Amino acid sequence: MRSVLVTGANRGLGLEFVRQYAADGWRVIAACRRPDEAGELNALAGDAVTVESLDVGDEGSIAAFRAHVGSQPLDVLVNNAGVYGERSVQVLGTLEPDEWMRVLRVNVVGPALLTQALADNLAAGSARGGRPAVVASVTSKMGSLADNTSGGSYAYRSSKAALNAAMRSMALDMAGRGVLGVLLHPGWVRTAMGGPNGLIDAPESVAGMRAVIDGLTPEKNGGFYDYTGQSMSW
Ligand SMILES: NC(=O)c1ccc[n+]([C@@H]2O[C@H](COP(=O)([O-])OP(=O)(O)OC[C@H]3O[C@@H](n4cnc5c(N)ncnc54)[C@H](OP(=O)(O)O)[C@@H]3O)[C@@H](O)[C@H]2O)c1
Repeated sequence: MRSVLVTGANRGLGLEFVRQYAADGWRVIAACRRPDEAGELNALAGDAVTVESLDVGDEGSIAAFRAHVGSQPLDVLVNNAGVYGERSVQVLGTLEPDEWMRVLRVNVVGPALLTQALADNLAAGSARGGRPAVVASVTSKMGSLADNTSGGSYAYRSSKAALNAAMRSMALDMAGRGVLGVLLHPGWVRTAMGGPNGLIDAPESVAGMRAVIDGLTPEKNGGFYDYTGQSMSW
């Protein structure tokens, strides 16, 4: 049975990743900050889905999670958890450091540290499965410098641009161990973060991203794609 770890699994795109992988017969480790409050996620828990505690913005939580997971092989890691950050301090004239640093910690440093912590598990997944393991990091078109024609959103944009840089390095550094990496723009999705005017629903976005993950080849390692598989500009 192939296994996947999803962060930020209690709602939005993360919850949908859990639903779809479980329905497809995968073993799913569904990680979230507050399992006790994750009603919809807990309803999916069972033989295929285990719910675990993980705050990606907290190094101690990552270390505890790593110890709990032990040496079990992982086929896919979905670095999905993310925050937009308080919008009122992302307008020129209002910028301040604390919220910006929080967004960077959750959106960039956390996924990189978690991936580093699970490198052996992913390499073991690759060796066991006879196919590359995959680290899929959910980024955003808003992290594209080429696509930035409207300015603003300093913390969020810079965090996703930095995530792209960090996880591309990770993809190159881990390829020798049979682990590939990909940056995924999910589209503009109707979730709490995307809001009600998003262009697509979570099931469509996640189905598309799962297809890109499944079709990832060494030639596409470290690339930036949207949920339809279209290559994105950095
Ligand atoms: N929706 C869109 O249109 C869109 C577009 C581009 C990119 N994205 C990206 O897609 C990903 C998922 O977003 P979404 O739309 O599903 O947003 P969402 O509904 O706001 O969900 C965000 C998820 O991240 C979790 N999270 C936040 N901080 C965390 C932390 N420190 N540790 C662990 N989990 C944490 C949240 O958990 P809590 O409930 O505990 O807060 C929640 O599960 C994000 O990386 C986002 O940047 C979304």
